[in-house]
Amino acid sequence: MREDIKKILLDEEKISKKIKEIGKNISEDYKGKELILIGVLKGSVMYMAELMKQIDIPCTMDFMSVSSYGNSTTSSGVVKILKDLDASIEGKDVLIVEDIIDSGITLKYLAQYLRAKNPNSLEITTLLNKPERRKADIEVKYIGFEVPDYFLVGYGLDYAEKYRNLPFIGILKEEIYK
Ligand code: IMP
Ligand code: MG
Repeated sequence: MREDIKKILLDEEKISKKIKEIGKNISEDYKGKELILIGVLKGSVMYMAELMKQIDIPCTMDFMSVSSYGNSTTSSGVVKILKDLDASIEGKDVLIVEDIIDSGITLKYLAQYLRAKNPNSLEITTLLNKPERRKADIEVKYIGFEVPDYFLVGYGLDYAEKYRNLPFIGILKEEIYK
């Protein structure tokens, strides 16, 4: 598995230090609120687990699973919901937890979908951000790392469902996907 990685971009220590910082900020910003973290399956699972451990105020979690309609190069901006929320978010303070924001199309749709359910507030956190590739404009409140436009795997991120279990974030060798 590791032989498919060209370079380690972010090691475990760096990631965990950053998540601690974000968790601290969230704990301060959401004091006295009804925080619910909504993870976008499956890539956000590791980030969600680490982040939640670093939040020291009461909070709950839920997950959604979405997939883009049609082929990814010509995304229509419409996503199909494969798994919806288990419980109502009306009046709650919602924080969407994502692994990486690329075009932003998926998240823009998801944020609109969730906003229609009348939460008290709705914000986004992403472990990784690829600003160069943004097509949809979305506001992201907590960003772990800005990353260059390489195909990244590990720490939840996959290529063809593989590499999610790598404990670091690395650049996948081009010959693997070309
Ligand atoms: P977008 O922001 O709608 O373009 O889609 C973002 C989603 O694409 C993320 O949640 C990931 O699942 C996937 N994705 C984008 N860039 C990468 C990458 O470098 N590695 C792995 N998955 C990625
Ligand atoms: Mg994702």
